[in-house]
Amino acid sequence: MTSLNNILEKAEQTHTLDKDELIILLNSDGKALCESANKIRQKYIGDEVHLRGLIEFSNICKCSCKYCGLRSPNQKADRYRLEPDEIIEYAKKGVSLGYKTVVLQSGEDTYFSVDKMCYIISEIKKNDIAVTLSIGEKTKEEYKAYKKSGADRYLLRIETTDKELYKKMHPNMSYENRVECLYNLKDIGYEVGTGCLVGLPEQTIDSIAEDILFFKDINADMIGIGPFIPHPETPLKSELNPQNFDIALKAMAATRLLLPDINIPATTAMETINPMGRIIALNSGANVVMPNILDSDYKKKYEIYPNKICLNEHSGKCRNCIEAKIKSIGRFVSENKGFRKHII
Ligand code: 5AD
Ligand code: FES
Repeated sequence: MTSLNNILEKAEQTHTLDKDELIILLNSDGKALCESANKIRQKYIGDEVHLRGLIEFSNICKCSCKYCGLRSPNQKADRYRLEPDEIIEYAKKGVSLGYKTVVLQSGEDTYFSVDKMCYIISEIKKNDIAVTLSIGEKTKEEYKAYKKSGADRYLLRIETTDKELYKKMHPNMSYENRVECLYNLKDIGYEVGTGCLVGLPEQTIDSIAEDILFFKDINADMIGIGPFIPHPETPLKSELNPQNFDIALKAMAATRLLLPDINIPATTAMETINPMGRIIALNSGANVVMPNILDSDYKKKYEIYPNKICLNEHSGKCRNCIEAKIKSIGRFVSENKGFRKHII
């Protein structure tokens, strides 16, 4: 038996690997790894796929992350923010389209005070729907207030666990604070999602292996891993690496092996650089898809990276399209809210 097969067997049985073993998986061609992740997804999660309706409610951001098209120094970005009642209306649209979760995502926009966010969350929670927040670094008190208003989950990617790289990518931010935010969220009782970018300049396979060990260590409930896609109005505009899709896919599959019962999205960034990206991801360990429920104008303006998918599609069309894709690979759309079912 090759050492690759030994490592996969160990991962399938124990859901633990050390860094060297992860590096071997990440350096492999990915075929056996993705098959193994698909098998483990089937065993622990089954064939249901959870849909989360994404509402990108403001692209105004005070941060300057080097990779992100919404970074505040990008003066070409056409900025918008939805008013609280508009956000609530979109959430209701999500309910009518059959979503069981809405994800409220934005740049770090200080207009949305705690009071405004709590109003939005509690109004949306009057419907029978789970609410996920993805609005960045806040104080523990703020996280507590959102939770009290009914928020169920929180997404905050660590982006990279390589501290030097983190520093270069995130001017005026602190790695330690980001980690503390994640532990605060856990402590308060959120389902916590994190994740990373794959393909940042100077990022190594070694550091991606560390990212995966971090996900295991923090015992995240959700992990989103996406390929880095250069945005023309950022300092990283020339840093395209065609291998990013494959490495992101392998990192996602390895994450499934170590955290077999968590929720893992087939990320939109994967589909952006590979027309079959979400299907390939769903067949390599993923069990979640996050279609957008905003109208075209806003989808276009929320340009974290270029060439986002479905820009001209109506939200109802995406809902049907993704369901058809899911069914085409023998899977089905879940009828429940899709919380993590702790199996191990
Ligand atoms: N390419 C791919 N993903 C990106 N993100 C931000 N900028 C880019 C980019 N250029 C991701 C970050 C963030 C998430 C909302 O989008 O990981 O957490
Ligand atoms: Fe938008 Fe297919 S998911 S058109």
